[in-house]
Amino acid sequence: MKVGFVGWRGMVGSVLMQRMREENDFAHIPQAFFFTTSNVGGAAPDFGQDEKTLLDANDVARLAEMDIIVTCQGGDYTKSVFRPLRESGWQGYWIDAASSLRMDDDAVIILDPVNRHVIDAGLQNGIKNYIGGNCTVSLMLMALGGLFQNGLVEWASSMTYQAASGAGAKNMRELLCGMGAIHQTVAAELADPAGAILEIDRKVADFLRSDEYPKQHFGVPLAGSLIPWIDADLGNGQSKEEWKGGVETNKILASKQEVVVEGLCIRTGAMRCHSQAITLKLKQDLPVNEIESLLAGANDWVKVVPNNKEASMHELTPAAVTGTLTVPVGRIRKLAMGGEYISAFTVGDQLLWGAAEPLRRMLRIILG
Ligand code: HSE
Repeated sequence: MKVGFVGWRGMVGSVLMQRMREENDFAHIPQAFFFTTSNVGGAAPDFGQDEKTLLDANDVARLAEMDIIVTCQGGDYTKSVFRPLRESGWQGYWIDAASSLRMDDDAVIILDPVNRHVIDAGLQNGIKNYIGGNCTVSLMLMALGGLFQNGLVEWASSMTYQAASGAGAKNMRELLCGMGAIHQTVAAELADPAGAILEIDRKVADFLRSDEYPKQHFGVPLAGSLIPWIDADLGNGQSKEEWKGGVETNKILASKQEVVVEGLCIRTGAMRCHSQAITLKLKQDLPVNEIESLLAGANDWVKVVPNNKEASMHELTPAAVTGTLTVPVGRIRKLAMGGEYISAFTVGDQLLWGAAEPLRRMLRIILG
């Protein structure tokens, strides 16, 4: 088995390499190859593999020598290389973090703790394209798998609080620059405990609206503000990120009867954890303790957080979760609309379960 890696140096790719190192995945790969779009012939990262130089990621013939290709290079790369590679007759497995191929009929969206049966059926049926899901969708299903996988959800509304990392590494830097610049604007007044807060606030507001605020990548301020739109405008009032919520959830679950998933996707000033406030209408009026035990038992990473102030403040935040594989879900309670209506709040690291983790697990599934 020859496994080629493309886009291993970017943010998602780096997280993937880190996780593969932690899990000793390279010991299971007979031959690993690293490809590049910018440094052909340069030194490959050393994971103990034989091939020490970087190969050309745009060389279709070279790619076609691989049995499995894992790419985090992004959607434009997938669009330019995937078709020519398949048209050259290549029959290998394509594992991709980008969204370009996700909704294709000959692709499975991979989230094995939730849809291992769909993946196994795909492998049996000769499907060769395995694509990571949208981070928000994957994190929602990791958290609420106990309800979705048991067919208990009539509909769900997810209101998101999405981290800067979902937009890219440059956006994370811009968020921090914005935070620092805001502080600098009022550092002198803050140092004086008697400084008038409304004066400080006015200066901050003036700065947020000024051309001085660093906003090259987001276009508008994120630190000290939020952005109520993520991804393309579909022209029907819905953002592409919101559209993905419904279509990808149903594709991941291979739903026979569509579950309506709706909501608004919002960018907030977290670094790499997406949070979601979810309203669910269940098909049955289940007791809360039964709901909690269904959720807790769905996979090894979900953690039910008791619905009280102390636990919610300490365990159900981006600060608590960032950099970990744990997906806490809490704020679970019956809503005043009726016994079938419940609330939930969940947080997850969008670079781990939202991006890299399903890819490395899929590779291990194929390698057997
Ligand atoms: N589209 C997501 C976001 C990230 O912008 O947060 C990738 O799934």
